[in-house]
Amino acid sequence: MHKGQLMYEGKAKKLFETNDPNELVVEYKNDLTAFNGQKKAEQQGKGALNNHISSLLFERLSEADIPNHWLKQLSEMEQLVKHTDIIPIEVVIRNVAAGSIAKRLGLEEGLALAFPIIEFYYKDDALGDPLINDDHINLLNLASHDELDEMRELASKVNDVLLELFRACELKLVDFKLEFGKDPSGKLILSDEVSPDTCRLWDVHTNKKLDKDVFRQDLGSVEDSYQEILNRLRGAVAHG
Ligand code: C5P
Repeated sequence: MHKGQLMYEGKAKKLFETNDPNELVVEYKNDLTAFNGQKKAEQQGKGALNNHISSLLFERLSEADIPNHWLKQLSEMEQLVKHTDIIPIEVVIRNVAAGSIAKRLGLEEGLALAFPIIEFYYKDDALGDPLINDDHINLLNLASHDELDEMRELASKVNDVLLELFRACELKLVDFKLEFGKDPSGKLILSDEVSPDTCRLWDVHTNKKLDKDVFRQDLGSVEDSYQEILNRLRGAVAHG
């Protein structure tokens, strides 16, 4: 495999072409951004930690037969993935009230939701990633009805798998964001990353935040928090 031209640079990752048109190299960056890019910082070690965590989680999702783009971890900062056409929808799954839903609906942070809530956001920085519903998705032609149903079903399965894994780590999976893409045959598969940059994870006993809210809210060391997540995940995987 040969790492070729830079194809795309996002806020937290770079994508490179390879000599195989069906595969890409993802390089994780040390950059941290929040509030639609208004708050920025660089954190040594963050890219490698997210690469390790996302690889471990995608491996677990593959074992659970959830179709996804992850192929293998290549190095500290890089992984090999299937080339997909990303659907410009951010799928957010919530188990506990926090962040924007707490603000929007006036819910107390930490309230356990009676059932997992699935939301869709239009992935568009210029618009500030607005919350959208099925009709908006249809109007903007972002995905078909069947694809939307499939995204809901896959998101719910991912939630079940991750809830169980994080429970074994004594972590509360508060909420997380997923992105889906289509492979060359048109099949919908889970893409992007699953990491403390894209999930809220709280210690089950103390509710201590160990995710990107540490950066958003200046709560301490991002590197220590993400390292804690990786250590607990490795412990849980090692013990079955
Ligand atoms: O901000 P909000 O409460 O809507 O975020 C819900 C979840 O989605 C959080 O875990 C957050 O980290 C994640 N998210 C993300 N990328 C975005 C927006 C939210 O990873 N652009």
